[in-house]
Amino acid sequence: MNDTLFMVLGALAAAAAGLWAWRRWHPASFWYGIGFPMRAALVYLTWRHVASGCGLTRHRRRWRWSLDAVPVVGSAARNAATVVEHKRRMRRVDVERAPRLGVLRPTRLGWRMRVRLHDGQVPADYERAAEGIAHAWRVHSVRVVDVGPGVVTLWATMRDPLTEVTVTPETGELLTVRPGKLENGADWVIDFRTVPHWLIAGATQSGKSNLANVIIKGLAPQPLALVGFDLKGGVEFTPYRPRLSALATTRAECVALLGDLVAELERRMAVCREHGARNVWGLPADLRPVPVVLLVDEVAELFLMADKSEKDEVAKTATALLRVAQLGRAFAVYLIVCGQRIGSDLGPGVTALRAQLSGRVCHRVNDPETATMTLGDMDPAALDAARAIPAETPGVCVTAGQDGSWHRARSVYVGEAGAEQAARDHAHLTPAWAEVTGSSVAVLRPDVPDAA
Ligand SMILES: Nc1ncnc2c1ncn2[C@@H]1O[C@H](COP(=O)(O)OP(=O)(O)OP(=O)(O)O)[C@@H](O)[C@H]1O
Ligand SMILES: [Mg+2]
Repeated sequence: MNDTLFMVLGALAAAAAGLWAWRRWHPASFWYGIGFPMRAALVYLTWRHVASGCGLTRHRRRWRWSLDAVPVVGSAARNAATVVEHKRRMRRVDVERAPRLGVLRPTRLGWRMRVRLHDGQVPADYERAAEGIAHAWRVHSVRVVDVGPGVVTLWATMRDPLTEVTVTPETGELLTVRPGKLENGADWVIDFRTVPHWLIAGATQSGKSNLANVIIKGLAPQPLALVGFDLKGGVEFTPYRPRLSALATTRAECVALLGDLVAELERRMAVCREHGARNVWGLPADLRPVPVVLLVDEVAELFLMADKSEKDEVAKTATALLRVAQLGRAFAVYLIVCGQRIGSDLGPGVTALRAQLSGRVCHRVNDPETATMTLGDMDPAALDAARAIPAETPGVCVTAGQDGSWHRARSVYVGEAGAEQAARDHAHLTPAWAEVTGSSVAVLRPDVPDAA
């Protein structure tokens, strides 16, 4: 008897140790083999309670067998008043119905599942309930993604994937960089041909310049021209000079470079018109001009004026920048504008410029208005997420493209040395500024791949 007990205990201990070791040494297969099925069972078993607690259930009238109390007055009860007899009966009763769950599908850091909305529910109801569901499931976060007619997909993430980010910014595809990771564990990819212009906002030390470094590192191996505007005296971008076709460190230089760029845009426009192309990607490969990515660090410096005499220069800069933004998409000039705060208080023209920058990245901010200013009138949950970014995680941001979806993300840390090395390694790819903005013959770059 004792032997059997010892054997059972020994087997249990061995199994527990085995499971512990499995989890310790191969967490991914442990998750798919053991962790996820257990979680899935728990989610299905508790969904009614969770949905009810989060206010997602609906009351429906359903036929049910129920116990009814029937008063009986009979001979046996002649002396008593009445006797109550319990009887089973079919009758319509109120029942609480949870929204129907689809199949739980495992992801690397959690799971996702479709939920069918009750009549009258909208995805916003689930966005409001998401935090409650996350607490009920004991996971890091639950997000509503992929909204379809009558269904939403809930995406649960068990732990914050943004504590450590290791990705390579280089994607090998023209005008595409991989700055970091999204909260759902997927790579964060910026494709300038889909979203051409980006606004990167955040308080000081929130990770704006690091993101610019990552973008430079990712773009450096590609056949394109990088241009830097660094009005902090050039301290940020000067180390990357070997890979920059032009670098402006004063407003006068910015105005001159923007003038060149606008002239170049007009030239590209003329070439496209001549060849009946709507944009440079419609041109024959041997006529396609080199793409230009213009990075602006601390945009406020461009707009701030010490006295009235600078007013003209500021107005010129604002107009030229706006023109570049408006025409850039079709003619392969892309803008990345970084700043602590990009609001109308900087001067006229800033709001119009901001409207052109359809890609948004909001790092930690000091005040809610900056988040609203950067992310626009997006889902309030995006603004809450941006406001909740703690100071001890620089590089964490909320990013939104033009399709209205948003993600928490974090850029990979690329020290200045990393970006500097990339700039030096790919210095031979740097087209001269005269070549970029020269005559339309000089800008022909047969090595620019077809991006159609
Ligand atoms: N993605 C990241 N991961 C880890 N650390 C980061 C990340 N991004 C930035 N940091 C750290 O935060 C510091 C500040 O970052 P960064 O210089 O990019 O901020 P900033 O927003 O440009 O600040 P400022 O407004 O002062 O220029 C960096 O020195 C770096 O150590
Ligand atoms: Mg900076």
